[in-house]
Amino acid sequence: MKTLNIIGAGKLGRTLGRLWQERGFFEVQTVCNRSLKSALTAVRFIGAGKAAGSIGEMPAADCWLIASGDRQIAALATELANHLHSLAVTNSRAPGHSDDDHTAANRKTNDSRTDRPVVFHCSGALGSSVLAPCRPAAIASAHPVHSFADPARSVATLAGTAVAVEGDSDALTVLNDAFGALGCRTLAIASEHKSLYHAGSVFACNYMTALMDLSLQCFAAAGIDEAEALSLLQPIVLQTARNNLELGPAASLTGPIARGDTATVASQLKAVAGTSPLLAANYRQLGLACVELARRGDLPAEIAEQLNALLNGSH
Ligand SMILES: NC(=O)c1ccc[n+]([C@@H]2O[C@H](COP(=O)([O-])OP(=O)(O)OC[C@H]3O[C@@H](n4cnc5c(N)ncnc54)[C@H](OP(=O)(O)O)[C@@H]3O)[C@@H](O)[C@H]2O)c1
Repeated sequence: MKTLNIIGAGKLGRTLGRLWQERGFFEVQTVCNRSLKSALTAVRFIGAGKAAGSIGEMPAADCWLIASGDRQIAALATELANHLHSLAVTNSRAPGHSDDDHTAANRKTNDSRTDRPVVFHCSGALGSSVLAPCRPAAIASAHPVHSFADPARSVATLAGTAVAVEGDSDALTVLNDAFGALGCRTLAIASEHKSLYHAGSVFACNYMTALMDLSLQCFAAAGIDEAEALSLLQPIVLQTARNNLELGPAASLTGPIARGDTATVASQLKAVAGTSPLLAANYRQLGLACVELARRGDLPAEIAEQLNALLNGSH
């Protein structure tokens, strides 16, 4: 079994570590978090491995996952690069190690040796190039399109997730197999498209969560408590998601904008504006997106103009 070291086992790192260990794909060897206490908690959740107090304490491994927050990845890659260099030097001095092995440390960037270590991260926004200091290791990024809000839930629901990957071919061979072992499928993404691709996920996932919160704020202002509002929303939210996935957004849009009910939109805008500026700003922007969508359907151009003027505040 290949060995895996994890630097930054938070929500995503814990989930993947546990699943790879359970499926027998990777043996989770060492985990290093910002604090030793957190690394110990991660090791308990994963059910394998040892907690390390620093990257310098981690032994050599076939695969290294940097699953810190995005803003720490570059600095951790530099720290790991120094450590990999020390490990390679130590290894080259070990008895029985040949000069041929030693030349691996001087290899150029894109070769495809199968025995060099793989270093990867799971950021949706960053490309694998942020890991370049770790060369001659093979580098890659692998972004699971999944919301790791709670590792225990993610362990049970990750199968079926798509994982967008880019990087060195030998790293991708390992990652295709690794995610395949979890029931996930990989898809290739060009590194220059990652920001747009990630924004697409952010709209559908993070912004949907923000929309739920805005919706709850409206219900709260109308005197409906959160528990009641969530139960009221559950069927319509799930049904809307299903409609969108099965029919597409244009055919799924219902409500006052799709019907061209300008008076209803004006009255809702007045009500939300009287409640909070954030609600009003979002109502206007998302309303404009709805008008654009409704135009692709039956909404007459003249009504669309009226709605746009209303939502832009020029009416
Ligand atoms: N969450 C998601 O839904 C999701 C989905 C797809 C991709 N991703 C990607 O997955 C990665 C991790 O996200 P996450 O949500 O799992 O983050 P997270 O829960 O905040 O976990 C980050 C982990 O990194 C550790 N860390 C931070 N700085 C460190 C350092 N200097 N040295 C060692 N460890 C350090 C933290 O340690 P402490 O616990 O000690 O603070 C924490 O355990 C990100 O690249 C993110 O873009 C996340």
